[in-house]
Amino acid sequence: MPLVTSTEMFKKAYDGGYAIGAFNVNNMEIVQGITEACQEQKAPVILQVSKGARAYANHTYLIKMVEAAVIECPDIPIVLHLDHGPDFETCKACIDGGFTSVMIDCSSRPFDENVAETKKVVEYAHAHGVVVEAELGTLAGVEDDVKVSAEDSSYTHPEEVEEFVTRTGCDSLAIAIGTSHGAYKFTPEQCTRNEQGILVPPPLRFDVLEEVSKRLPGFPIVLHGSSSVPQEFVQKINAHGGKMPDAIGIPEEELRHAAQLSVCKINIDSDIRLAITASIREYFDEHPDHFDPRQYLKPARQAVKDMVAHKLINVLGCNGKA
Ligand code: G3H
Ligand code: 13P
Ligand code: ZN
Repeated sequence: MPLVTSTEMFKKAYDGGYAIGAFNVNNMEIVQGITEACQEQKAPVILQVSKGARAYANHTYLIKMVEAAVIECPDIPIVLHLDHGPDFETCKACIDGGFTSVMIDCSSRPFDENVAETKKVVEYAHAHGVVVEAELGTLAGVEDDVKVSAEDSSYTHPEEVEEFVTRTGCDSLAIAIGTSHGAYKFTPEQCTRNEQGILVPPPLRFDVLEEVSKRLPGFPIVLHGSSSVPQEFVQKINAHGGKMPDAIGIPEEELRHAAQLSVCKINIDSDIRLAITASIREYFDEHPDHFDPRQYLKPARQAVKDMVAHKLINVLGCNGKA
């Protein structure tokens, strides 16, 4: 089937108590790993492209790789989404260039400016059959060249969401409830320790999510910064020459719970990076004489596929929903 928008996907996910995985794509092995897992698991999927991905891989290459995945995976609906579109011009370029969904992220700007830029993107997108994700509240972490410190991040104010959605006409809303971008989501000081001495992150603000959902019944909510930073990857990276002390993510149970509520889209990028890096570091350590990229990219692609399959089944609950 051709690329689709997320409208139907989100409606089914909302009603069915599951979420769609939105995975960042930057190269062929990532596209293949994600979509092969989704095809096998019969899971709908959102492939998302950041400004950094467009700068790295080139818009045309990314589009053509996603089109190839559409041909190779005929049984599943696939959305092509712009992640963290910084302005109208970038969103317009993606809408004109074949994306079926865009995010306009003016969450770090004052409320009225966020409304104005989002509304402009919505008008253009809807006139071209494309849907729009917007954001209220600021996540900590790094996105492209923007770095937001934990002190400058802020939870979404539930009392603002109805006015924002009504004035902008956006189709889904990303909110800040304690997730953040990257592989270092919490400092050890922000965490507690369980009996085994393992760091336990502070819980997500489900009270904020519930308050938002009450004010926007039936409306799809998006969670960014939702990698779980699996410790098996971190340990493998550290065991094979890497240095990622204190890398920590969002517990899978919390994401599963969010997916059962109004969260219809869960963004995952860092876990893909970790799966690939752990695999390649291990491979290089074990095969110092190998130099054919296919030799180490094949298991790396498989690691992405295995990780994504695990998410579809155990975290998102969207397996079998295509
Ligand atoms: O939200 C950020 C995503 O992980 C994309 O990261 O801007 O480095 O491509 P990137
Ligand atoms: P992670 O860094 O937690 O994978 O978040 C990715 C994301 O939100 C992409 O927009
Ligand atoms: Zn994000």
